[in-house]
Amino acid sequence: MSVIVVTGTGTEIGKTIVTAAVAAVAAAQGRHVAVLKPAQTGLAPDERGDAAEAARLSGAATAAELARFPEPLAPATSARRAGMAPVGPQEAAAAAAKLAEEHDLVLVEGAGGLLVRFDADGGTLADTARLLSAPVLVVAPAGLGTLNATALTAEALRARGLEPLGVVVGSWPDEPDLAARCNLADLPEAAGAPLLGAVPQGAGALAPEDFRARAAHWLAPALGGVWDAEGFARSVG
Ligand SMILES: Nc1ncnc2c1ncn2[C@@H]1O[C@H](COP(=O)(O)OP(=O)(O)OP(=O)(O)O)[C@@H](O)[C@H]1O
Ligand SMILES: [Mg+2]
Repeated sequence: MSVIVVTGTGTEIGKTIVTAAVAAVAAAQGRHVAVLKPAQTGLAPDERGDAAEAARLSGAATAAELARFPEPLAPATSARRAGMAPVGPQEAAAAAAKLAEEHDLVLVEGAGGLLVRFDADGGTLADTARLLSAPVLVVAPAGLGTLNATALTAEALRARGLEPLGVVVGSWPDEPDLAARCNLADLPEAAGAPLLGAVPQGAGALAPEDFRARAAHWLAPALGGVWDAEGFARSVG
């Protein structure tokens, strides 16, 4: 089974765009890819969700969403306030496993950071990853503060018996400051896992053809791309 769980140090840090990039590279290699967002919050029924957005950009064959809760809150909170049944980690894992029967790669995007609650029992994306024995990709911001947030996420993963697959910078600035440039060397240490890419700021606004044409240049070979961490660090100074 090929499932990758995509988490991040928080919300709005580029998980969806990184998910799209990983999906785009796999799809370009002829793999049948599914993107699963177990719980989508903060969108009206007719708005495009994260899974659909990742599929639109990447050309992934399938976008799946198990539930949508209206208010932009943690899934457990948003479900409770709406009087709706939450999506538990078991349900998310079962849906991913089913998609994995029909796809070569399934990417599961969490909501917010790793320990955001899916349900009133305290289930999180980490439980889903454990149920699937899936590797967990950590999306992190580029700048100041990312080392601590990344280290905390990696430590929380390990405390739950999970190993981070690596870190991808969700939005690499056009003009990286000193902290962002230094973080390229320090993020792998903070995570205890390799830096596996940096998706440029603005990538989400590219036309899908351009996004797909460029995605391999943002991701390391471990994610199917050609991005080289050392070369990238040298190029940004
Ligand atoms: N590399 C990027 N290029 C362009 N836009 C980006 C990039 N990274 C993030 N964004 C934008 O920033 C916002 C947050 O990104 P994204 O939706 O990927 O966050 P997220 O981590 O998936 O958050 P959530 O927890 O809500 O799923 C979006 O409006 C997205 O379009
Ligand atoms: Mg998202």
